Amino acid sequence: MGQEISISERLRSLLLKDTKVVILTGAGISAESGVPTFRGEEGLWKKFRPEELATFDAFMANPQLVWEWYEYRRKIIEEIKPNPGHLALVDFQSYFEKFDLITQNVDGLHHQAGSKKIIELHGNIKRNKCIRCGEKHEDLNKALPGIPPKCPCGGNIRPDVVWFGEMLPQEAIQYAFEVSSACDLFFSIGTSAVVHPAASLPVIAKRNGAYVVEVNLSPTEISHLVDESLFGKSGEVLPFLVKLLK
Ligand code: OAD
Repeated sequence: MGQEISISERLRSLLLKDTKVVILTGAGISAESGVPTFRGEEGLWKKFRPEELATFDAFMANPQLVWEWYEYRRKIIEEIKPNPGHLALVDFQSYFEKFDLITQNVDGLHHQAGSKKIIELHGNIKRNKCIRCGEKHEDLNKALPGIPPKCPCGGNIRPDVVWFGEMLPQEAIQYAFEVSSACDLFFSIGTSAVVHPAASLPVIAKRNGAYVVEVNLSPTEISHLVDESLFGKSGEVLPFLVKLLK
C-alpha cells in the first residue's frame, strides 16, 4: 500500500447518491495494468515520435509502419486486465444516480472492467475503419489481406482512433462538454491534462461551479485550478473513495 490518503470534508460531503458526477480518465488509470503512458520518463512519446506514428500523413506515407505500431500496442493491451482503479469506477457508476465516464484512453479497459456507456473521446484501438469508404471493422478480420489489411472496397484499413490534427468524434465531445458543464463533482484521473479539447473539460466544470478533484501521481497542468488534488495511484485512491460511499 502507498502513502496514506486523506480527503477534505467538502469532498466527503459530496459523496452522495444524487451528486452529479463526471469522470475524465487518461493513460495513468491504465498504468497499473501495464499500459504505457504517453508522457513522462517511461512514456511512449519519449521513445516514439507522434508525428511519425499518430497522424494521418504518417499513415499515408508509411501505412505498414503505423499499422505495426498499433499491432504492437494491441498486443500489450490483449494481455492485460483492468486494475482496481477501473473496477472502482464500476462501483461509482452503480452508486451515483447521475454519472458519466469520459475517457481519452483507447485501450477498452473500462469496458472490460464492466463500466457502461463510456464516452470514448479518442476512439478505440480494437476497432478499425476504412480510409476510403469509412466502413467500421469492429473486430479485426484476420482474413483480410495485407499489412495494413485492405477493405473489400480496396481502401487501407486504419485503427479507429483519433490522430494528432484530427477532429474528435463530434457527438462524444459535445456530450462531454454538456455533462461537464452541468455536474456537481468532476474527477480528472491519471491525465496530464495537456491535450485539448479533453483538457478543457475540468476547466469548464470548474467554471460552471463543480467541485473539481484530480487524482494523479504528481501535480499537473490543472493542479492550480482544481479544488483538491489526491496524489497517489488511482488503483489505490479510487478504491479508498469507494469505501466512503454509503
Ligand atoms: P499522459 O501520458 O500525458 O499522462 C498520464 C498521467 O497519468 C500523468 O500525469 C501521470 O503522472 C499520471 N499517472 C501515471 N501513473 C498513474 C497512476 N498509477 N495513477 C494515477 N496517475 C498516474 O496521458 P494522457 O493525459 O492520457 O492522445 O494523454 C492524453 C492524450 O495524449 C492521449 O489520449 C493520447 C496522447 O497523445 C491521442 O492519441 C489522441
